[in-house]
Amino acid sequence: VETLGPALVHEDLGAAWRSARPRPAGRHLDSAACSRQSSRVLEAVAHHARHEAELGGYVAEATAEDLLQQGRSVIGGLVGMAAADVVFVESAQAALAALLAGWRLPAGSRVACLPGEYAPNAAQLRAAGLTVEQLPVDDLGRADLDGVARLLATDPPRVVHLTHVASHRGLVQPAAGVAALCRAAGVPLVLDAAQSLGHVDTDLGADVVYSTSRKWLAGPRGVGVLCVRPAVAAELTPLLSAPDDVPPLRAFESGEAHVAGRVGLVLAVGEHLAAGPDRVRERLAGLGRGAREVLEGPAGWRVVEPRDEPTATTTLRPPDGVDVVTTRARLLTEHGIVTTAIPPQRAPGEMTGPVLRVSPHLDSTLDDIEALAAAL
Ligand SMILES: Cc1ncc(COP(=O)(O)O)c(C=O)c1O
Repeated sequence: VETLGPALVHEDLGAAWRSARPRPAGRHLDSAACSRQSSRVLEAVAHHARHEAELGGYVAEATAEDLLQQGRSVIGGLVGMAAADVVFVESAQAALAALLAGWRLPAGSRVACLPGEYAPNAAQLRAAGLTVEQLPVDDLGRADLDGVARLLATDPPRVVHLTHVASHRGLVQPAAGVAALCRAAGVPLVLDAAQSLGHVDTDLGADVVYSTSRKWLAGPRGVGVLCVRPAVAAELTPLLSAPDDVPPLRAFESGEAHVAGRVGLVLAVGEHLAAGPDRVRERLAGLGRGAREVLEGPAGWRVVEPRDEPTATTTLRPPDGVDVVTTRARLLTEHGIVTTAIPPQRAPGEMTGPVLRVSPHLDSTLDDIEALAAAL
């Protein structure tokens, strides 16, 4: 598809997504940071909070348990796992913290990550006493499967931790290929799906998948998920065991929580399924392609991703002398366009300078992208 118009498939999804949400006050091109929740999700969250006031917080939580269990089941389905393998936590980083705290890997255990690993993840791995090593990648930072195969054959790390789609670059890692290699080598694969759940396919055979609610699934903030296959779950030691009547992994679900937010996430996941994950991915990929076509060049900004990368996230390198943080602020205050400024500290092993991130969701239009190009 060479022209802009036809690149945007499933216009019905865009229209449905738009009409299901409060009217935006500007142009939201920052779903990789936080998406807009639907009115139904907002109402469900408020409804649960109201129930807490009427019934009592713990009584309300008990009444929501069937819904939460459906949510665990559906989220498990999105990552190829079962409801018993899924727990709710507060964020992606909270999920990784819970995993590492439970795994208790011996100090110095080697974890292989992409050179472009999300800095807070690498910091957590190091804080857990682990040695972070680099997976082989190509010029763009995409894992090189032949190199990964060689690493696993000759000098396997204890764990591979793969960030599926980076925060700073809308590139999809070949996670299914890495998962197959890890499986064959007996090395557990942990997938950071913070930027991929609800955006690209995440049912790829990883042993652990963790993610967050507020980005591509468009759920509430302050909610995340940790999904662990039984073989790795058996290696985890919780502070206190879960009660006998629930799966053992539930020991890692946070007890005190924004339960209303979890209810909201379950509804948001239901909306994602109703929209059709394949169709969602196709439209998001079309938005990414359209954005890269429009945004390559204006005023000297340069697109980092290959034009046809199947994601909605585009990052732009600034022209000489243009400050990304100032530009992001100017876009917001003067044009009502919400984007994200990403400093190189976000992925210091890969970024050589700051980028402006543009991440439309289903309701965005090429008009929004054209408005951004004009404002740049
Ligand atoms: C790739 C990646 N991993 C992890 C996170 C952390 O997610 P959370 O803020 O939910 O902890 C983010 C958030 O931006 C991310 O982009």
